[in-house]
Amino acid sequence: MRIDIITVLPELLHGPVNQSILKRASDKGLAQIHVHNLRDFGIGNYKQIDDKIYGGNAGMVMMIEPIVNCIESLQKERTYDEVIYMTPDGKLFDQPTANRLSLLENIIILCGHYKGIDQRIREHFITMEISIGNYVLTGGELAAAVVSDAMVRLIPGVISDETSALTDSFQDGLLSPPIYTRPAEYRGWKVPDILLSGNFAEIEKWNDHQALERTLKLRPDLLEE
Ligand code: ADE
Repeated sequence: MRIDIITVLPELLHGPVNQSILKRASDKGLAQIHVHNLRDFGIGNYKQIDDKIYGGNAGMVMMIEPIVNCIESLQKERTYDEVIYMTPDGKLFDQPTANRLSLLENIIILCGHYKGIDQRIREHFITMEISIGNYVLTGGELAAAVVSDAMVRLIPGVISDETSALTDSFQDGLLSPPIYTRPAEYRGWKVPDILLSGNFAEIEKWNDHQALERTLKLRPDLLEE
């Protein structure tokens, strides 16, 4: 998978891209993340990328030209499956969306800033709009890092324990069961006996039951869905 992220703040993405799971996936040759500075496509001597909103409202809008020039320079090189715009107006990001996107080959992610982008970009270039939650961030960079992480960790081979991504919370619409490690008793607080029993069929049943019970208690909305 190749992810091209377009941003006015490339430094904000350096941490996630160079340190996290994204770095590991890149080192293994399983995912490539390329960060593009929109300023390089800015207009004129000042490399302008934003301008005043038409109609008199306060605030700046990201201009159409630099963004289109950047997107089209990428599209000249390869075909993209999705051109995603990170925005609080978008569809709420969830595990099924991460699963679907993780199967794609080439993705562009455009990070918004200021008041947002010229509407014509959304109408003519963007194929998908994603929000990571009902709150407003200063820009789309942190959201792009969240979406990239969630997608890339699902690519087979990125996480060393292949089954672990499949048993994540949400993967089957349920929260994960509680987990424990040694010591089996700490300050009198014991690990449930069943987990020490070695009876894997019973342990699996216990885990399923716990997952359902926790979901009912903590996130009943997931069961309604
Ligand atoms: N940009 C600003 N806020 C955002 C959000 N909640 N999700 C995605 N992109 C954003």
